[in-house]
Amino acid sequence: MRKIIIAGNWKMYKTISEALELVNGLKRILYNIENVEIVICPPYTCLDQISELISESNIKLGAQDMHWETEGAFTGEVSVLMLKDLSCRYVIIGHSERRQYFSETNETVNKKVKTALKYNITPIVCVGEKLEERQAGKTFQIIEDHIKNGLKDLSKEELARVVIAYEPVWAIGTGLTAKPEQAQEVHSFIRKLLSDMSDEETAQNITIQYGGSVKPDNTKDLIKQKDIDGALVGGASLKIDPFVEIIKNAAGLEAK
Ligand code: PGA
Repeated sequence: MRKIIIAGNWKMYKTISEALELVNGLKRILYNIENVEIVICPPYTCLDQISELISESNIKLGAQDMHWETEGAFTGEVSVLMLKDLSCRYVIIGHSERRQYFSETNETVNKKVKTALKYNITPIVCVGEKLEERQAGKTFQIIEDHIKNGLKDLSKEELARVVIAYEPVWAIGTGLTAKPEQAQEVHSFIRKLLSDMSDEETAQNITIQYGGSVKPDNTKDLIKQKDIDGALVGGASLKIDPFVEIIKNAAGLEAK
């Protein structure tokens, strides 16, 4: 069975005081949600205090990126050991904004994924096509490239511990959401690729989230799709009301 995972990607938003206010609100309202894995991925500067605040709660902590080395002379970078120290359970890897602005490639994604798995942090691996790629009919080619190379050389056991987020780049922060059937088509393609890389049973148990302008009113229709197992939420995770509503809408759905 795949558990629905709703993760909030806060990007470069929130000072510590703003972050604590948001998390206190989420904790107060969401304490009895059990069938959805709730994850928040704040900026590094807030991780320490939030980690303490949610330690006894049903909210899990994630980071937005990490380096593939455990330590070293890499000015400005953060390592997996540092994230472990803060009790991070998840880390987003290969977000399209990292690919676009910070030279992230499938090769660096692959190295980071391996390090995260080695240290028992769940990587949320982002894949997705740009608008021009979709228009040129290259969606499946791009997805295959991201999945096969980003997850290259992982054993079946390692693949089973990965979370994928399908995020069409044209839907991120634009207000344009992929239609549920449009997203499902890609999710089922991803599951097929994962099955080819491992086996059917392993692939059936991997959580594949959708991301890109997820809002309270489109959550249910997306997650009802056969191969959509949750959401990676940007803008709508920055305020209590929409994020709570997204989680409650997801919690009302059957597990797959
Ligand atoms: P959005 O961002 O929900 O604001 O579109 C999603 C993401 O970038 O993960």
